Amino acid sequence: MNVVESEVKALEEIARASSLADLEEVRLRHLGRNGVINQLLSEIPELPRQEDRKTAGGLINSVKEKIENALEEKDRELKKKDLKEIDRSSFDITSPGISPHVGSIHPLTQFREFVRDTFSRLGFEEAYAPHLEEDEYNFGLLNIPPDHPSRDLWDTLYLEDGRAMRTHTSNMQVREMRRRKPPIRVMTFDRCFRYENVDPHHSHTFTQFEVLYVDKDVSMGQLRFLSDLFLKLVLGEKTKTRFRPKYYPFVEPGVGVDALCPFCEGKGCRVCGMEGWFEIAGAGLVHPQVLRNGGIDPKVYSGLAWGFGPDRMLMIKLGIEDIRYFYEGDLRFAKQF
Ligand code: DAH
Repeated sequence: MNVVESEVKALEEIARASSLADLEEVRLRHLGRNGVINQLLSEIPELPRQEDRKTAGGLINSVKEKIENALEEKDRELKKKDLKEIDRSSFDITSPGISPHVGSIHPLTQFREFVRDTFSRLGFEEAYAPHLEEDEYNFGLLNIPPDHPSRDLWDTLYLEDGRAMRTHTSNMQVREMRRRKPPIRVMTFDRCFRYENVDPHHSHTFTQFEVLYVDKDVSMGQLRFLSDLFLKLVLGEKTKTRFRPKYYPFVEPGVGVDALCPFCEGKGCRVCGMEGWFEIAGAGLVHPQVLRNGGIDPKVYSGLAWGFGPDRMLMIKLGIEDIRYFYEGDLRFAKQF
């Protein structure tokens, strides 16, 4: 094959190559170790004249260079085309995307954060008390001896060693009084447990928000102020607070705290069961004997306490129909808030 012919052939083949693999074959055929160009170069020594050998060498090398340039250009062109094809085939901008899973915070947790924030600004510190509690802290030291009839209301699960699943957050009261010196301002927002016939309004597991304030001259006026402030923050400015006398063994006097229904403003509606009010907390001034049990002299100090029902309050505020939703861990529920 002469040099010109081989040049034409190589350039033609390069132009025709439709893929990078094709092009590689062409390269090997012409520039490979046993390719056409090497073949031609190996024939040079056979030329008899020194001059011809020189000319042939120059010619062949210039053809080799042309082929190399053509290969390089074609390579670039094919790679560009390949990219375009990948673009088109694997990235369809019209196909629906995969939406990322976005978590959300459980409504009770959100409420706890709000309560913590509000009451810590009023000087209350957060306290914890055990869920599995000694009989004394849950009952005895709160004036509820073993034969007290109110134990029926607070039935729960007992262990053989006498401990029980706490029935209210009030178990923190004597614990905290014994650990601290007045003035004491503590709060707990946590779970409690009771024997209940489970229905949309009763759950064996529920939440309470307990506040305890012990200082000189703590009065019903302060209890009223705190209740009012809290209810207004949660249910809105129009809410009113109502105290009704109510008996709890660990307070004297004791009250039931009601909030004016934020939906009908007291007229009576479906949400409040035509009552116009919701009972939302138990509260009162800490019984002198309970103060004494906590190592505090009732002649010098007095205290206020309340146990508040966040489940109930959120059910009203957010229109949740069944208390069990809070504790079932169903994402379809939690994600709504
Ligand atoms: N522990 C009571 C209950 O679970 C609620 C309660 C009433 C808490 C009066 C208090 C209080 O701190 O002073 O029914």
